[in-house]
Amino acid sequence: MIECGAARAVGERIDQIGPERCIALRPVDEDDRRRVGIIGALLVVEELQSVDLGEGHRGGVSLRFLWFSWEHAMTSIWELDTPALLVDLDALEHNALLMAQRCAKAGIDWRPHVKACKAPAMARRLIEAGAVGVTCAKASEALVMARGGVTNILIANEVVGDQKVARLVDVAKLATLCVAVDDAANVREISAAADAAGVTIDLLVDVDVNLHRCGVTPEEAPALCALISDLPAVRLRGLMGYEGHVMGLPENEKERETAASAAILARANELCKQDGHEIGVRSGGGSGNYRFVLKQAALTELQAGGAALMDLTYVQMGVEGHRQALSLVCQVVSAVNSDRAAGDAGWKATGRHTGLPDVANPDGWRCVGLSAEHTHFARDGGEQLRIGDRVEMIPHYSDSTVLLHRTLYAHRSGEVEEAWEISGSGALQ
Ligand SMILES: Cc1ncc(COP(=O)(O)O)c(C=O)c1O
Repeated sequence: MIECGAARAVGERIDQIGPERCIALRPVDEDDRRRVGIIGALLVVEELQSVDLGEGHRGGVSLRFLWFSWEHAMTSIWELDTPALLVDLDALEHNALLMAQRCAKAGIDWRPHVKACKAPAMARRLIEAGAVGVTCAKASEALVMARGGVTNILIANEVVGDQKVARLVDVAKLATLCVAVDDAANVREISAAADAAGVTIDLLVDVDVNLHRCGVTPEEAPALCALISDLPAVRLRGLMGYEGHVMGLPENEKERETAASAAILARANELCKQDGHEIGVRSGGGSGNYRFVLKQAALTELQAGGAALMDLTYVQMGVEGHRQALSLVCQVVSAVNSDRAAGDAGWKATGRHTGLPDVANPDGWRCVGLSAEHTHFARDGGEQLRIGDRVEMIPHYSDSTVLLHRTLYAHRSGEVEEAWEISGSGALQ
């Protein structure tokens, strides 16, 4: 057990601690939490020391803080400085359990995409709910997750070139890493870098399942599998087929096109197996079509992740049974007219390319526009807003909102429990 003042590491034994391992610290008990105001901290071990602790005991670890959350202990969401990005823990846990249970029922693994949340603390919550690991978009995003204690990562995109492949190696030193590939030269560069560093990187052959973005044809897949099997320090794990083109389609077309994509991946699977390749994983699916993916049972791993937070875009895509976990609180900064008001969260606080946010609180107001720094509200029968009033909104799209912020305040019934650093915002490389 590691103790650090009034805090204690959760579930850690001193003999399991090693360099670069992450440790989550929690206050020893509720009294300490109130006394020192610590909600939690995430630290990474820098070095193991040999310090004389007296009475014949030796020990000591030097820890570097990844994040530290204290001043928000027991704060109400209405007292936070604005704009404040919130995640409702009850709603998040509901969504995460729902996705994990739906996947379990369909007999497939859930590997949620974390490109929307970008916060390792939230990724760890999804894993606690039953996810086998996470899916990332970029190598730098994966590195943020690995440094934040996530130990099983898929990068569901091609990662190309010296600088980025070097980053893959950094991730593979901390976590089990799997990467999508669709090119022989790229497979060779990953193999060479991994071999030189003494790590192994798993690969999924990316198949174009009609998205027409990346990916080989089913007929080209076996040759790439053969190359991976021949090279050192890379291991063939299976196939990936992301059907991003179906997400915005009407229901019946979406079901049909999801099946068409699954058929393409199944053909690739068949051809690879005929050539003697072991295809353990077939990965794909997004929040917008996961209900059909689960029905059709063509995949072994589901990448859908954004619907753990939910937003208005996923509502438009027909995602059912989820609760809105993400919201944004702003403050009214001008209310010169009783029928309109301006808030302090514009498109620099919530992306607008897919649509405007909904007003969740108070009733009788709606958002009619976003300028860079301002929300434009119009009265719809509600009580007049006054300067300093708080307005809570549901963002239209989580992906284009979370990355604009540095902190995600995790609350339960309006009381902040933790402040999660969005350490993946800006991680685009
Ligand atoms: C490769 C890949 N997988 C899965 C997804 C689905 O992500 P989400 O469920 O967050 O919408 C995306 C979305 O862009 C993606 O690009």
